[in-house]
Amino acid sequence: MTDTLTITDNRTGKKYDVPITDGTIRAMDLRQIKAAPDDFGMMTYDPAFMNTANCRSAITYIDGDKGVLLYRGYPIEQLAEDSDYLETAYLILFGELPTTDRLNAWTREITLHTMLHENIKKFMEGFRYDAHPMGIFLSTVGALSTLNPDAKNIFDKQSRRLQIHRLIAKVPTIAAYAFRHSIGRPYNQPDNDLTFTGNFLNMLFRMTELKYQPNPVLARALDVLFILHADHEQNCSTSTMRNIGSSQVDPYSALAGAAAALYGPLHGGANEAVLRMLNEIGTITKVPEFIKKVKSGEGKDRLMGFGHRVYKSYDPRAKVIKKIAELVFTVTGKNPLLEIALELERIALQDDYFVSRKLYPNVDFYSGLIYQAMGFPVEMFPVLFAIPRTAGWLAQWEEMLLDPEQKIARPRQIYTGHAKRDYTARCRCRWYPSSTRAAPGNTCGSWSPSVLDRRARRPSSRRASTSKIGSPPTASSPRNRPGTSRRRWTRFA
Ligand code: ACO
Repeated sequence: MTDTLTITDNRTGKKYDVPITDGTIRAMDLRQIKAAPDDFGMMTYDPAFMNTANCRSAITYIDGDKGVLLYRGYPIEQLAEDSDYLETAYLILFGELPTTDRLNAWTREITLHTMLHENIKKFMEGFRYDAHPMGIFLSTVGALSTLNPDAKNIFDKQSRRLQIHRLIAKVPTIAAYAFRHSIGRPYNQPDNDLTFTGNFLNMLFRMTELKYQPNPVLARALDVLFILHADHEQNCSTSTMRNIGSSQVDPYSALAGAAAALYGPLHGGANEAVLRMLNEIGTITKVPEFIKKVKSGEGKDRLMGFGHRVYKSYDPRAKVIKKIAELVFTVTGKNPLLEIALELERIALQDDYFVSRKLYPNVDFYSGLIYQAMGFPVEMFPVLFAIPRTAGWLAQWEEMLLDPEQKIARPRQIYTGHAKRDYTARCRCRWYPSSTRAAPGNTCGSWSPSVLDRRARRPSSRRASTSKIGSPPTASSPRNRPGTSRRRWTRFA
């Protein structure tokens, strides 16, 4: 027997039994609830989708109370320990871990697609010297759709595979070129002998050396950070990817939109805010004072990198990142802000304000410190997030496309504007040719001559210099260009 929810509409006294599946009722089942026959039917109102499931998904599982994050059933801690980003991306995209042969083939495919077309490089060169790398990144991803028109075949499995290979492979190259562009250095070609993250470091940091040797600790640390950021179910950018993709546009255009959502400070930009906060605090002795200010609500300060909409315990990614930070600092030297971060965490985790609200460090609390120690400017932080999240976005996009229940995303609204009212015409003369300016409804009576009206009144000898006398007008003749029609249209006053 299916579970049901019985709803009584107190407006009519009618009762409705609505099926419950997976602890959820279908919003469309509420449509039958009407106060009158011509009533549209009941809807749910859920700004920011606080309590609405928009899809069924088999990709990522989060238990926010217990601090659990699984990709296709595998705990994030285990993947971070023993997997690498490309294997994890395969798992997220295709549902199972690859066999050794499949992993090798997948790695080879990705390696084959790392280069960018020269046109795309020229496109990137067109950005101003101080363009934000995330702006360059998302525009360039969108521009890839113009180079790959075959990507429109979204219901062709082979085509989808090809675009997935291209995107996973090219996003690090785009990210690295965006970084090099923003610091005025020439782009470095991919080196396909290196690992995914080793090559990324090569494209970012190689100077004049013939062969770049990435530091293995830093390459591994980046790899782990990429694993941790690869997917996080229906967050803002992933929902954007699904929403745009539901219009059946190509994946490059959809991914550009997802990256734009990630660009926002409430999503991909929080680790930058953590660094700003740590810099503002300045020294470890000022931590208690800052905590006091946060708790009082004075100055609207929050403890950035703390708290999460879903996690009500320690974010499992933050635990891994804290360990990785120690590893990275053995190579780069300790980030001086680390002491402040550790003291903030120590005090906050003992303080009733944070404990009672279940506020724990999230993924952003330590990641900015690592990125900064590795030499990344803060502007690169959202770009570093977008590279691995590409796997999650694409997996969620494909899942949405193949889900027979999904259609173009189109939420409803509660209209709060004016009831129907009539428009009072200002003057219709702007819509009619001057010859009809006496038409009913033309109230202003004024008329300013257009360019051609003025030219028509010039002596014919002067007119001959701009148009061939005696020849019929062609599409390219000046009088047929938009805005120069021989018909005398009155212009806007
Ligand atoms: N510092 C101090 N107090 C906080 C914090 C914080 N970081 N986060 C939440 N609170 C308090 C709120 O003031 C509120 O207190 P109240 O009940 O007395 O009013 C209570 O905790 C609940 O907070 P909400 O804002 O309702 O929680 P919500 O789930 O909407 O917000 C969010 C989650 C946005 C992440 C929030 O915790 C926050 O702003 N954190 C700091 C920013 C941050 O680190 N963002 C990164 C998130 S991870 C990611 O996106 C990749």
